[in-house]
Amino acid sequence: TRNPVAKLLLFGATGDLAQRMLLPSLYGLHADGLLPDGLTITGSARSAYTDEAYRDFAKKALDEFLPEDRKDEAAVGGFLERLFYQAIDLSDHSSFGPLAEKVGDVSGGLAIYLSTAPSLFEAAITGLESVGLAGETVRIGLEKPLGYDLASSREINDAVAVGFPEERTFRIDHYLGKETVQNILALRFGNSFFEPVWNAQGIDNVQITIAETVGLEERAGYYETAGALRDMVQNHILQLVALIAMEPPARFDGTAIRDEKAKVFRSLRLMTPEEAPNCTVTGQYGEGAVKGEIVHSYTDELGKPSTTETFVAIKAHVDNWRWQGVPFYLRTGKRMAARRSEIAIQFKPVPHSMFGNRGGLLQPNMLIIRLQPEEYVQLLVMAKEPGLDREGIRLREVPLNLSLDSEFAGTRRRIAYERLLLDLIEGDQTLFVRRDEVEAQWTWVDAIRAGWTANGMKPKAYASGSWGPSAAIALTERDGVTWQDD
Ligand code: BG6
Repeated sequence: TRNPVAKLLLFGATGDLAQRMLLPSLYGLHADGLLPDGLTITGSARSAYTDEAYRDFAKKALDEFLPEDRKDEAAVGGFLERLFYQAIDLSDHSSFGPLAEKVGDVSGGLAIYLSTAPSLFEAAITGLESVGLAGETVRIGLEKPLGYDLASSREINDAVAVGFPEERTFRIDHYLGKETVQNILALRFGNSFFEPVWNAQGIDNVQITIAETVGLEERAGYYETAGALRDMVQNHILQLVALIAMEPPARFDGTAIRDEKAKVFRSLRLMTPEEAPNCTVTGQYGEGAVKGEIVHSYTDELGKPSTTETFVAIKAHVDNWRWQGVPFYLRTGKRMAARRSEIAIQFKPVPHSMFGNRGGLLQPNMLIIRLQPEEYVQLLVMAKEPGLDREGIRLREVPLNLSLDSEFAGTRRRIAYERLLLDLIEGDQTLFVRRDEVEAQWTWVDAIRAGWTANGMKPKAYASGSWGPSAAIALTERDGVTWQDD
């Protein structure tokens, strides 16, 4: 049951995420009449803005980041009227008093959106609590990074739990807000024909790729302390693994779905230090050309030497009955050849080919779920090439195509944050990450990092605009598997 709050408090209200995503998303919800009537939004950050100045700031962000066809003067005006502002220094306890005053009465419900450095979480929660912004009617949304290893994530979770029990804590993984990611559930559990082959008998391997063309952007301070494993694998890629690998939940609700995902995380095989060099590859981008444009190396952008990985490839295993022996190949990187998020499910080959050698090579079926930039689902199947075939029937791999882009062409694709902010405001936890999930994710990640340390592994250089270090190709080729679409 949805239970909307009357107020929203946005920390980090002047940051990059707020400008690009949060403000445009809240505006989108407002323009479509989806925000509760009278919902006020108090922005908060270090800068000293008046309400008026913050409204100007927000207007500029909307001008810059809203698509033209979404700009509507009246709607923008109405949206800006919801906005208020109060400066805060999270590390200064005394600045919470004025904030509480500005927010005012929270008996009608308050949702807080907190995105801050892990080191400030505890101070933020203590501050909120001390001024009465953590009671029964208040819920909190937490943006990553939620720590940098299991110990620090536990500390954050403990600190949060003092003010906010789990049912009022909403941990954000924006991948879960993406339509195409939710579509994995629709595909798997809304159709009958995948499920019988969705296991070690039917599937040979699973590949998950999140490739980006962007580099460091303006996030050197954060990224240097994170690296690709923490930034992308611990959260987004593992969530995709869970949606692919989980058992069918009984209901579409927060408890049922998160129970099943958590079981997958707990079933991830922990890597031993001996396995790390063979089962993982790390890389760091050097110079190169991305989409025809020459770009600098990571260390040049950073301005100093670094051993932070901007690419990682991993051979992972889900140790349970369904997935025994099925490798999950995972990879993500910055400055790669193309922007592409994709899941490729490679099915087992037919047990016997009646076509002999004459038919050409039979390719095992593959299901490709392209999450972005395009949205499609493709099943690669063998078909007969037209012809008289006097020397034997000829087969060729062809795609059965479901283009979500064209099938749902008239429907606007919402930003992931629209969905997540609305769920936070209305109190639906289904698409948020539960504490046991996060901690199991970190446990698995920490084992990998321990292996890197034990073996003194350093990232291998790869050219910007490539698909990562060649060792990443060798990682699958050793098993006779080729990364889809290289
Ligand atoms: C963020 C990472 O969580 O996800 C970024 O911190 C990354 O490094 C981003 O660029 C990718 O998100 P999307 O939605 O563009 O795939």
